Amino acid sequence: MAAIYSPMRRIWPLSAIVSAEGAQLRRLLEMTDVAPNSRCIDLGCGVGHSRELVPAEAWVVGVDRSPRMARHAAAAGYRAVVLADIGQLPFATNFDFALCIGVLEYVAAVDLFFRQVAAVLHENGYFLCTISPNTKITALRRRFGPLLYLHRPEQMIQWGEDAGLRLVAQRYYLTQISFLFSKQCAAD
Ligand SMILES: C[S@@+](CC[C@H](N)C(=O)[O-])C[C@H]1O[C@@H](n2cnc3c(N)ncnc32)[C@H](O)[C@@H]1O
Repeated sequence: MAAIYSPMRRIWPLSAIVSAEGAQLRRLLEMTDVAPNSRCIDLGCGVGHSRELVPAEAWVVGVDRSPRMARHAAAAGYRAVVLADIGQLPFATNFDFALCIGVLEYVAAVDLFFRQVAAVLHENGYFLCTISPNTKITALRRRFGPLLYLHRPEQMIQWGEDAGLRLVAQRYYLTQISFLFSKQCAAD
């Protein structure tokens, strides 16, 4: 899968979808004040396409549970690629920004995951993530692909709140719903 993932993304209509999804994420990123040389963590980095969302000078650690994906990602400009499950992050508080793009549909316990993200983020750090919407396209993916979990947007916002992550903005597209959260200061 890792070897065909990138070529597939260049073929229409997937190319058009990928481009629209990327534009939506970049617009959300423009709402943050994360410095170009910030410390980022890309959770479920795959072969490294989500690395392109943050500036080249950012210090980015990728995390993925698939050894093949992680091997490909190693050439994508990460400071390090760590083989781990994002449900059990082996990090202390260290990051200004966390990304989790195209991954949460494979994760059942997103409430626990949010707590981990909050634990590795500095105060006022940002978290950008996506889920799959409840559409016919997702239904087709669920029918013919691997097991996918559907999470409701209002549930995502609540899980974020419970973990100390406040919603900054949310955007809808045919194939993805994106959320930008910010870690609240203890005094907020
Ligand atoms: C569709 S790819 C998305 C990759 C990348 N974020 C992107 O935007 O192109 C999903 C990735 O999430 C990884 N993944 C799924 N569940 C995971 C988990 N629990 N822990 C670590 N990685 C996970 C998969 O191995 C896969 O590489």
